[in-house]
Amino acid sequence: MSNLIFSDSFINGEFYKTDTRFSVDDPATEKSIVNVSDIDEQGVNKAITAAQGAFSKLKATNATERSETLMRWYELVIKHKQTLAELMTKEQGKPLKESLGEIDYGAGFIKWYAEEAKRSYGDVIPATDNNHRLTSFKQPIGVVAGITPWNFPVAMVTRKVAPAYAAGCSFILKPSEHTPLCAIALAYLADQAGFVKGAFNVLVSQNAKKVGEMLTDSEVVRKFTFTGSTGVGKQLLSQCASTIKRTSMELGGNAPFIIFDNADINDAIDGLMAAKFRNSGQACVAANRIFIQRNVLNEVLEKITPKIAALKVANGFEEGVDIGPLIYPKAKEKVQQLIQDALNKGATLIGDQRDLGGSFQNPVIITNVTTHMDIYHQEVFGPVLTVIPFDNEAEVLALSNDVPYGLAAYFYSQNIKQIHRVSEALEFGMIGINEGVISNPVAPFGGVKQSGLGREGGHQGLNEYLEEKYVCIRI
Ligand code: SIN
Repeated sequence: MSNLIFSDSFINGEFYKTDTRFSVDDPATEKSIVNVSDIDEQGVNKAITAAQGAFSKLKATNATERSETLMRWYELVIKHKQTLAELMTKEQGKPLKESLGEIDYGAGFIKWYAEEAKRSYGDVIPATDNNHRLTSFKQPIGVVAGITPWNFPVAMVTRKVAPAYAAGCSFILKPSEHTPLCAIALAYLADQAGFVKGAFNVLVSQNAKKVGEMLTDSEVVRKFTFTGSTGVGKQLLSQCASTIKRTSMELGGNAPFIIFDNADINDAIDGLMAAKFRNSGQACVAANRIFIQRNVLNEVLEKITPKIAALKVANGFEEGVDIGPLIYPKAKEKVQQLIQDALNKGATLIGDQRDLGGSFQNPVIITNVTTHMDIYHQEVFGPVLTVIPFDNEAEVLALSNDVPYGLAAYFYSQNIKQIHRVSEALEFGMIGINEGVISNPVAPFGGVKQSGLGREGGHQGLNEYLEEKYVCIRI
């Protein structure tokens, strides 16, 4: 199909239709794109059986074959880049230029794992006597199930499915009900690329809880991978406990973005604009608490205010747009509540608070933010720059680390000793130094503390789908 819009789940290489349907809406126009079928219990069970059968077939493949299949998938995704990007802007709302960027980013995981598929090395272990030979090697975990969010509808899927397939695992994906169309299109293209039938199944559903329970309860599913909120992640982890599944959890963040007074301020502002306004601020790695050393606070605010005022907020398909709509009206309501709570507690607003209608949120700056405000503790997930002045390094480190989350952190400094000290002291899984965009398929993405378990991307991402087997031979 030329527009790659499909409206049913995808199981065992075929579309699976049900009578119950729900609408996937364009967040910019609030109009329906298409009615998709909501999976039933029978469909979930069919996907589990299909994935189990596919895993048996995958065992007969070798790493080179899987690598070549992944490379064909990569090529198809790139061939359909424009169509997929348009589909993404339609269902997710982000500006088309960002969607095009996400297709490259998402396809990058497929290409990377096509390469890494061939590199799942084992070990030869020096024995402790002359009568034994000790080795260990890696085998695929088996059937994997995953739930992905709406904010990056392609990249969050490929960075799970590509390493799983590279390892030789089959996958059952439940994408967000707000953005299932990109996921179905990806599964369709994977099938065209020659994926083993049943190795990549997509379950479309509005009932994430029910589908999640069926997948976590299943003995067949040996690994569960989730990207989303910490609250849901905790629930899924507890559900996975009964069958002791391997898990990867990419959960919430509350990223500090620190500008020290010795930073190159113009560079810091560019980095901050990128770290804050990518995807309208709807990213777990988005800069959330902007700490600015007090003696450069005015300079930063004077320079960044006109840049923020110049951001164009509109439908992601319009020329020159920087900020698309938030995913749905409730998301905007939540952002506005956070702003209002901060203002009620003494913060100051810079910017235009005019209501742009629908789910469109104007970007604004909130200064004089303190730890008493909700906006300090919650992921804003919107285009709001939350500014907290600080006086010295020790103070900003204590503030940065004093949250339950530890996903990404950023800082700008030109002092090499400070760069080493601060990067070691920040309790976060990923650190951007003089850089506001750190995500990269070749690097390990993941958090510490309540931001998650495991890593996606890099050579580490393949191990998430492999079990280590130790072999001891007496000779
Ligand atoms: C996220 O933070 O939600 C994922 C973004 C990324 O991969 O860069």
